[in-house]
Amino acid sequence: MSRYTRQTVLAKTIWLTDKLFSVTVTRDPDFSFLPGQFARLGLFVGDSEALPADTSPEPNEWRAYSMVSRPDANELEFYSVVVPDGKFSPALARLQIGESLWIDKTVFGFLTLERFVEGEDLWLIATGTGLSAYLSMLRDPATWSRFKRIILLHGVRNATELAYRDELIALMQRSGDQSAQFIYLPVTSQEPLTCDLSPSISSQWRDAARLTTLLVNGELEQRVGVALEPARSRVMLCGNPAMVTEMRGLLSERGFAPGRRGVAGNLAVENYW
Ligand SMILES: Cc1cc2nc3c(=O)[nH]c(=O)nc-3n(C[C@H](O)[C@H](O)[C@H](O)COP(=O)(O)OP(=O)(O)OC[C@H]3O[C@@H](n4cnc5c(N)ncnc54)[C@H](O)[C@@H]3O)c2cc1C
Ligand SMILES: NC(=O)c1ccc[n+]([C@@H]2O[C@H](COP(=O)([O-])OP(=O)(O)OC[C@H]3O[C@@H](n4cnc5c(N)ncnc54)[C@H](OP(=O)(O)O)[C@@H]3O)[C@@H](O)[C@H]2O)c1
Repeated sequence: MSRYTRQTVLAKTIWLTDKLFSVTVTRDPDFSFLPGQFARLGLFVGDSEALPADTSPEPNEWRAYSMVSRPDANELEFYSVVVPDGKFSPALARLQIGESLWIDKTVFGFLTLERFVEGEDLWLIATGTGLSAYLSMLRDPATWSRFKRIILLHGVRNATELAYRDELIALMQRSGDQSAQFIYLPVTSQEPLTCDLSPSISSQWRDAARLTTLLVNGELEQRVGVALEPARSRVMLCGNPAMVTEMRGLLSERGFAPGRRGVAGNLAVENYW
C-alpha cells in the first residue's frame, strides 16, 4: 500500500509575484490533523519527458508544509515562499490547477494547542511563512473558546509580504472593539508600516523593526497593549530558526519554557528550516 496519496490542485493565490503564494488541493477523506501540524508534500521534480513511455511521474522531492486550512475543511490549503534556488518551492509555485500534488498519509508536528494547559492569552509569533500554522488555529472555532485573548504577531521584511492580512483584519474587526479577543500586529523589518495596511495601529508603532528588538525594548507589549506573563500567557514561535532561537532565549529569561516529561509548558516552537 502506498504511503502517500495523489491530490489535485483546485486553486492558487499569488500574494506576491515570484515570492509568496498559496495552493489549495483536494483532501483525502482519511487525512486528519490538528491545527499547527504539518504534512509532507511530494512532487516529481525533473524532466517528465525523459521518463520511459507509459511511466507516470512519481514524487521524488518531499518537503514539510503546515496546514493552513481549518481541520474540518473539505480541501487542504498550503502557504509557501518561493526560495529562489530551492529545489521544491519553485516547482510547487509552477503547479497549475488540475495538476497533481502528493501528500504523505502521516501527519507530523507538535506545534499544537494540546501542548498547553489552560491560559488566558495565546501569543502566536511568526516570521514569514511561519504564519501558516497559526492560520489553521485561527480558522478553528475550538481555538476561540479556549483563550480569552489571541495575539498574532507577524514579522516580515516588507508590507507587501503581509499575506492573509484581509482575513486577519476581518477577524480582528469581528472580535470587536470592546472585547478585543483578537489582536493582529503586523511588523515590518525593512520599511515602516503604512496606515492602509495597519489601520488599527497607532502611528507611533509603525516603525520598521524585528520582533526580537521590540521584545527587548518593551515595545512589543506596548504595541499590543498586553503584558507577557508566564502564568497567564501561552506562546508559540514559528518560522525563521534564528528568530525562534533568539526569541526563545529572551522568553526563557522571562520565565517561559517548553513542557517536558508530562509537565505542560507555556512555550511551543517550530523551525521551518
Ligand atoms: C515543520 C516545517 C513546516 C514547514 N512549513 C512550511 C510552510 O507552511 N510554508 C513554507 O513556505 N515553508 C514551510 N517549510 C519549509 C519547506 O519545507 C521548504 O523548506 C521550503 O518550501 C523551501 O523548499 P526548497 O526546496 O525550495 O528549498 P530548501 O532547500 O528546502 O531550503 C533552502 C533554504 O531556503 C530558506 N527557506 C526554506 N524554507 C523557507 C521559508 N518557509 N521561508 C523563508 N526561507 C525559507 C532557508 O534558508 C533554507 O536553507 C516548513 C518546514 C518545516 C521543517
Ligand atoms: N527579500 C529580500 O530582500 C531577501 C534577501 C535575502 C534573502 N531572501 C530570500 O527570501 C526567502 C525568505 O525570506 P523571508 O523574508 O520570507 O524570510 P526571513 O528571511 O525569515 O525574514 C522574515 C522576517 O524575519 C526577520 N528575522 C530574520 N532573522 C531574525 C532574527 N534572528 N530575529 C528576529 N527576526 C528575524 C526578518 O528581519 P530582517 O529583515 O531584519 O532580516 C524578516 O522581518 C529566503 O529564501 C531568502 O533566501 C530575500
